[in-house]
Amino acid sequence: MNQGPDTVFSRATTANLLVTGGAGFIGSNFIRSVLSRVGFSGRVINYDKLTYAGNLMNLTEIENEFGGRRYFFERGDICDFENVKEVLARFQIDAVVHFAAESHVDRSIFGPKNFVETNINGTFTLLEAARELWAGRKDVRFHHISTDEVFGSLGDTGFFSETTPYDPRSPYSASKAASDHLVRAYFHTYGLPVTLSNCSNNYGPYHFPEKLIPLTVLNALEGKQLPVYGDGNNVRDWLYVEDHCDAIWQILLKGRTGETYNIGGECEKQNIEVVRGICDILEELVPVDSNEKIRKRSPGIKAYRDLIAFVTDRPGHDRRYAINCDKIKTELGWKQTYDFEQGLRETVAWFVRNTQWVEAVRNGDYQKWIETNYFGRTR
Ligand code: NAD
Ligand code: TYD
Repeated sequence: MNQGPDTVFSRATTANLLVTGGAGFIGSNFIRSVLSRVGFSGRVINYDKLTYAGNLMNLTEIENEFGGRRYFFERGDICDFENVKEVLARFQIDAVVHFAAESHVDRSIFGPKNFVETNINGTFTLLEAARELWAGRKDVRFHHISTDEVFGSLGDTGFFSETTPYDPRSPYSASKAASDHLVRAYFHTYGLPVTLSNCSNNYGPYHFPEKLIPLTVLNALEGKQLPVYGDGNNVRDWLYVEDHCDAIWQILLKGRTGETYNIGGECEKQNIEVVRGICDILEELVPVDSNEKIRKRSPGIKAYRDLIAFVTDRPGHDRRYAINCDKIKTELGWKQTYDFEQGLRETVAWFVRNTQWVEAVRNGDYQKWIETNYFGRTR
């Protein structure tokens, strides 16, 4: 293993980090996690366009504690070259941690254009801006966050490793695959100091309720149908978001340039198991008979599981994802700390507790909240 000074980002602990997509689910968890790390004394600049998935309510307490000192928000599009370059220069950015993306497979099926624009052109634009501004520097870092979906679909056995050939099946995974290739090309062609990670399905607080886990929790609480695509036997490898954030930090700290690290939960579950698990946790936290909304909307319902509905399958639905993450474990010493039962219980409890966040997201009020509270206060 060659970990010389050129390949490891030795300034990670004091760096100025540009976190793209920092108002989204994983990005906001990463900002919270990195700013509360004992070993990090740098600054975080959250660069986000605030699409439907961007929500600054995810970072209210971070803004209160660190805003204007170690945390800054810049609204901007990663496709806007001049703006990206200006922000990189103004904050003297040492590392880009690139989360910004269109991230939902179903949306990519109905409207792939934004996925090509943001995930491919946006990543290309960031790479160009970093290349121009950093001009051959080696003491900087571009970390690209990607997905295991670039590898396609597994049968009943086997795992994705870092050397698995790419075989994306949805417009989302195809656009992420293209962006991964561009990042690697900038390493080989221009020597840009990059690292990449391909992660399995995340879950946890602040997850936007279009994805399976938060959608199921919120629909169940409302007494709405819980849609399970196809036969419900598709398998995903679930990772608690804090464990993902820790893995990214370990890569920034110790990862070697040009390398890719797979990150996974080593926790395969069929979708139907996940949905039933959520129903059972809700039964303990908010029993159906005590849930006013269910009594009004679906009076015949005796248990949350009664809301499950098998619906038409997603076109091109990948059957199984499972990650082999031995490389990051052995090289960088990372490992998962949450087991699924604990993580799922905490996640469901978080959505039950955080009613203000849930209401704002459900009504779309979080976008108005941002305009009045956030921009009203800081500009
Ligand atoms: P998300 O949809 O919750 O958040 C995406 C963020 O990017 C939002 O804040 C949005 O406003 C911002 N954004 C979108 N387009 C932008 C643009 N053009 N310019 C600037 N900002 C823009 O996504 P997420 O689930 O947090 O995923 C983050 C990253 O992690 C993505 O790159 C995704 O591919 C990857 N990933 C996600 C998962 C998962 O399970 N969620 C798993 C593996 C990898
Ligand atoms: P999702 O959370 O959209 O993540 P991804 O497609 O990136 O894996 O979906 C997770 C799994 O759950 C996937 O197999 C599709 C399935 N699914 C449902 O069965 N019902 C739903 O309502 C959603 C959103 C997803």
